[in-house]
Amino acid sequence: MPPLHPPRGRHRKPADTTVLVTGASTGLGLAIGRALIARGYRVVLTARPESMHRFADLGIREGQGVFLRALDVRDPDHRLRIITELEVDLGGIDVLVNNAGISYRTVIEHATERDLQDQLLVNFQAPMELARLSLAGMRARRWGRIIHVSSVGGMMAMPTMGLYSASKHALEGASEALWYEVRPWGIGVTLVEPGFINSDGFQKVRYTPLAQQAEADQRDPYHAHYRYMADFIGAVMRRVQATPQSVANKVVRVIEHPDPPLRVPATLDASLFFWLRRMLPRWVYHRVLYWGLPSVRKWGRGPFSRPALPETGPKEDAED
Ligand SMILES: NC(=O)c1ccc[n+]([C@@H]2O[C@H](COP(=O)([O-])OP(=O)(O)OC[C@H]3O[C@@H](n4cnc5c(N)ncnc54)[C@H](OP(=O)(O)O)[C@@H]3O)[C@@H](O)[C@H]2O)c1
Repeated sequence: MPPLHPPRGRHRKPADTTVLVTGASTGLGLAIGRALIARGYRVVLTARPESMHRFADLGIREGQGVFLRALDVRDPDHRLRIITELEVDLGGIDVLVNNAGISYRTVIEHATERDLQDQLLVNFQAPMELARLSLAGMRARRWGRIIHVSSVGGMMAMPTMGLYSASKHALEGASEALWYEVRPWGIGVTLVEPGFINSDGFQKVRYTPLAQQAEADQRDPYHAHYRYMADFIGAVMRRVQATPQSVANKVVRVIEHPDPPLRVPATLDASLFFWLRRMLPRWVYHRVLYWGLPSVRKWGRGPFSRPALPETGPKEDAED
């Protein structure tokens, strides 16, 4: 029996399909942009204004279906302007790839409210807002694809990555609701979930001031958490086979799929966790993962001299 309200599978020529990619001047976003250009899509590559120069550095110029636009996803004016402009100039966006993301590395006790807001704004609020703004056009055309680059962090959480996981879990929850909501108009919503990618992405993690202090100070109660997690993540990222290009190819396949699934684990480790979570009882799963944490027996031990005092709010708050 055919599925009810399938996203319309009618074949769309790449040259007639406009795809907007956020955070496209580096890493996975750049790989997605390049894969789309190679397939002949009409591609709008966006980056923060400060990073626009990278396109020229990389030899990527406007023309022949490639458009370059500044977009800081945190800025509501940027978001509204780009969607409105593209509606007028190119007849709207057919595929939105929300790729831009940031990642905090901090234990929960070392994160302030402002850190959490910053993490959620880039990884959750901004993508949802861009999706919201794109939907009227997609509904009018009765076709569209919204692709959210999520993460294994959107299906599970790891110590020191709680803020990042919170942002990706939020993205997953809202995208799941959106999947049901817009399917009647032939709009597909997909969460592409990479695990570790062999890239420098995790070297760009942001440490909160308290996290930075704890990582540098062997006497800090959380020092071992940071030290062993950072070593572990760095080692895994250097060893894995998945590359930005291999994940980008999955994104292209999602765009071209007549009825794309809601979730696509995009690397081998992502598929492994995807199935482990389904097969193991939760209490077993969490204990297996706990005892698998790097040198976990050393965590919480050491010559600690002072407790970590949580910041109640950064000083700038009072000055704003
Ligand atoms: N690398 C991994 O192992 C991995 C694993 C799972 C999921 N992911 C996800 O994949 C996506 C891409 O990550 P990546 O690995 O390619 O990391 P990356 O190299 O750090 O790229 C992130 C991109 O997002 C952009 N960005 C950050 N803040 C922005 C803002 N406010 N407005 C517009 N663009 C902004 C960055 O631009 P600037 O350089 O100008 O700041 C950069 O182009 C993210 O959503 C990430 O969570 C990555």
